[in-house]
Amino acid sequence: MSKQKTVYVCQECGTESPKWIGRCPSCNNWNTYVEEIKVTGQGSSRLSIIPDKSVSKPIPFDQVETINFSRISTEIKEFDRILGGGIVPGSFILLGGEPGIGKSTLALQLALATEKKILYVSGEESTGQLKLRAERLNKSNPNCLVYNETNLEEIINQIKNQVPVIVVVDSIQTVYTSMIESAPGSVSQVRECASRLLMISKDMSIPIIIIGHITKDGTLAGPKVLEHIVDTVIQFEGDQHLDLRILRTLKNRFGPVPELAIFEMGQEGLVEILNPSAYFIQSGEQNLSGVAIACTVDGYRPMLIESQALVSNAVYGTPQRSATGFDIRRLNMLLAVLEKKAGLNISNKDVFLNIAGGIKIQDTAADLAVMAAIVSSRTDQAIDQKTCCCAEISLTGELRPVIRIEQRMAEAAKIGFNKMVISAYHKKIPAFDGLEIKKAGNLNEALKFIFRNQ
Ligand code: TYD
Ligand code: MG
Repeated sequence: MSKQKTVYVCQECGTESPKWIGRCPSCNNWNTYVEEIKVTGQGSSRLSIIPDKSVSKPIPFDQVETINFSRISTEIKEFDRILGGGIVPGSFILLGGEPGIGKSTLALQLALATEKKILYVSGEESTGQLKLRAERLNKSNPNCLVYNETNLEEIINQIKNQVPVIVVVDSIQTVYTSMIESAPGSVSQVRECASRLLMISKDMSIPIIIIGHITKDGTLAGPKVLEHIVDTVIQFEGDQHLDLRILRTLKNRFGPVPELAIFEMGQEGLVEILNPSAYFIQSGEQNLSGVAIACTVDGYRPMLIESQALVSNAVYGTPQRSATGFDIRRLNMLLAVLEKKAGLNISNKDVFLNIAGGIKIQDTAADLAVMAAIVSSRTDQAIDQKTCCCAEISLTGELRPVIRIEQRMAEAAKIGFNKMVISAYHKKIPAFDGLEIKKAGNLNEALKFIFRNQ
């Protein structure tokens, strides 16, 4: 017998409470509890991620058989790469991101750029709209089935009937099951539908990609509640006003994290950027002051990124400091170190910093390049275009070593740089053909090398 009960569910984190409370004790958010009717007992499902039901007692670890699976590759190589080399059969993937960032575009491109049988479940757009988008993408796959449905039970029936190679559900917030009475998109619905899809994915060994919206203010039931259920979480990031899109794996049970892939949103959908370093270095062949190249790493990916600075006389009483793609507090810290340790007079100057290409740098290895760009603009001396910088700066003006120096050096050599300034505190440095390494212990030594080639 099934019975109904009313519970209050936090729409942020999914915590349940028998009565309404103003502040969630789990995530500390205010006014997030919403009344939901839950059907329990017969018919309700339990989350099970154990595909092999025969394992009913504990067994010694060395008797556990190794699973041999071959990954399913898509035509989008960068997507395969960040998943660890293709989609693992039976994996459950969450593709998250803000509305309008390009999740549906990516999923449709995945579905159409192959000959495999794909079931594309769309609860957000009609088949006609999808067709229009497909025409824009200029791709077609006769084996891609589009299915306009939001009822979970119907979707599961079709997965069983069609047995596709990959299923895409766009989006999990539109799917609902009649077993729960709350509205589609509520935490209970999202969680229940995802767990049932997970079971079918494991049972039939079919990978399912579910798309989930994340809103900045978190009013919609966030896919955050799903993160522990799914095997892989991929996040799509970017600024809607720029073309650059970053796809990042935040969790992956079948591959390394964090990995990232870079795409550009164009007229014909998303284009993979296979050589991000070339994409981010924009200054071309001209020798311009205020430009320095940083050798950064994001995830496991080394990238050479151009930082541009403009130092000018302050127009108003208080000098302005502004940064795009870089943490403003870190910029202020670097400016203070420049003033104090390198004697650069910038306290009455406006400083503007821009990281080219619209990317945001988190890596502290970009410190030296940012400082070099500021010095270059302040003194109006251009930096040699074949020199790149890679070091973190401490408050004392020392150059700190950075992680994955080998990968960074390999990338710099590959792109054609012939000089790289790094910290003197790196213990073991490999040699790369054509790349001269200059080790500096502090900022002044580094700047001397960068500007006077000493
Ligand atoms: P969409 O995939 O609908 O976003 P999401 O599913 O994450 O909400 O992305 C739509 C945006 O991408 C929209 O603003 C239009 C733009 N776009 C292009 O610039 N070029 C294209 O070829 C396509 C299909 C979309
Ligand atoms: Mg969409």
